[in-house]
Amino acid sequence: MPPETPPWWTRAVVYQVYPRSFADSDGDGIGDLGGILQRLDHLADLGVDVLWLSPVYPSPQADNGYDISDYQGIDPLFGTLEQLDELIAALHARGMKLLMDLVVNHTSDAHPWFEESRASRTSAKRDWYWWRPPRPGFAAGEPGAEPTNWQSFFSGPVWELDEASGEYYLHLFDRRQPDLNWENPQVRQAVYEMMRWWLDRGVDGFRMDVINMISKDLQGMDGAEDGHLHDGPPIPGTSLGDGSASYLCGPRIHEFLAEMHREVFAGRDGALLTVGEMPGVTVEQARLFTDPDRAEVDMVFQFEHVGLDHGTSKWDLRPLRMRDLKASFGRWQTGLADVGWNSLYWDNHDQPRAVSRFGDDSPEFRRDSATCLATLLHLHRGTPYVYQGEELGMANFPFTSLEQFRDVESLNHHVQAVSAGSDPGEVLTALRAMSRDNARTPVQWDASPNAGFTTGTPWLAVNPDHLEWNAAAQRDDDRSVLAHYRRLIALRHSDDVVALGDFTMLLPEHDDVYAFTRALGDDELLVVCNLSPTAYRLAELLPEAPAAELVLGNLDDDDPAELRPWEARVLRLP
Ligand code: NOJ
Repeated sequence: MPPETPPWWTRAVVYQVYPRSFADSDGDGIGDLGGILQRLDHLADLGVDVLWLSPVYPSPQADNGYDISDYQGIDPLFGTLEQLDELIAALHARGMKLLMDLVVNHTSDAHPWFEESRASRTSAKRDWYWWRPPRPGFAAGEPGAEPTNWQSFFSGPVWELDEASGEYYLHLFDRRQPDLNWENPQVRQAVYEMMRWWLDRGVDGFRMDVINMISKDLQGMDGAEDGHLHDGPPIPGTSLGDGSASYLCGPRIHEFLAEMHREVFAGRDGALLTVGEMPGVTVEQARLFTDPDRAEVDMVFQFEHVGLDHGTSKWDLRPLRMRDLKASFGRWQTGLADVGWNSLYWDNHDQPRAVSRFGDDSPEFRRDSATCLATLLHLHRGTPYVYQGEELGMANFPFTSLEQFRDVESLNHHVQAVSAGSDPGEVLTALRAMSRDNARTPVQWDASPNAGFTTGTPWLAVNPDHLEWNAAAQRDDDRSVLAHYRRLIALRHSDDVVALGDFTMLLPEHDDVYAFTRALGDDELLVVCNLSPTAYRLAELLPEAPAAELVLGNLDDDDPAELRPWEARVLRLP
């Protein structure tokens, strides 16, 4: 990236709002656009540049809005199109931008496109989705008759039988989220038209849901297209297979994204932003996706670092090894140094809370570990994303029973795992640590009942720790997690080296201390983060550190020679 022409988003910080859990203005227990409009000062006070809004479109809410039944409207649950326009205007007036969530790998099964598609085998939109007959030799509905053996992300097979036509449709996620067939040019044109409609309305870009899954591989063993989708390798202990090689970054993915860019973004005035969510993407692929010369997307969300504590699946939790984290982040920093750009995140609506997962949410270290993790992430090269509540040090929920969960992925997993013979207590333990509902509990605005989120009954319980951990308590406290995030965001805005400096990893083998430099011209920062409860002598680790000037730290600095538990320092080298 030539330093003389850095795009605006190289110094931007994005804030993600999951609307259902952000702020409820009408007392129905579900967050809404009115609630967001009332809380914009919180974002302005934090200093973020962009609001990424998770889906607010009409939806049966099978997957909390990631199952869209109308791409060009607002679900009454969340408000009206007029309020969305108001949000665009209010953000722009404050110098912020709005990023909409674009969910076009699949629709809801209640979308009129799918209803028309499923109406008959000869429907004009039949080919807009992936319809397939039963596996040869099997009758529809028989066990094993699914056209491929692929396992869905939300448990069970990816194929659902439509009794009326005797054919199956593909759904990589829930059965109420049928996959669109991007091979069909009409589908692509319909999506591009919808995207242009939103840009014309004033939105500033899109976060593209699982966008690297839109191209499915139709090649046979001989490499030629045979029109079929093919079985993947069996998943041990199940009757299903892993189909990911057929749909992650499939053969036409670059062609589709380049076409989307040409059709939707090229030639538009204005500072837009596109970020593609891409599970399984490699650094090499990300270089291609984010190379400005190829004009596909500005940045991608990669998943390597949030998979480092997974065993055979996300429910099989392993401790995070620091050297794995360094190797991974280091490779992404180096891989996208000269071409492309990183996005940086710990939290989002699909991940458990980072302070509980990678930090230490005990009373002793919660504040310090939350601010330490934040410093580590925000000092990397790339665009940081803050997920609602992360800036308050919000932690996982103390779930004790299955009835407390709402998430379709968690509930499906429980049914499937228990019916396959797993111990229900162990399944609950895994859900408690990894369920997406940990991220989705209401934002803790104050210490009042329901944390100031709603005057009604919240759709998902408020974390009882809101009495202590809330925005009101932190706003004027200079030592709060919130104040620390404010400082990190301001630093990215004020210091070129934070936005654009080169990255070099230090101490790659150290088990607890994560350290690196950022350098731009003569300016060099040294960042040191102790991700452990053990104190270290700083001079023994990094002799140049104790004498360097402190730019920003997360603890009151009484001994420059010692790196205390969960301490993070940003130092300027002479
Ligand atoms: C990724 C989204 O972030 C997640 O919440 C959703 O369930 C799936 N894609 C399916 O849309």
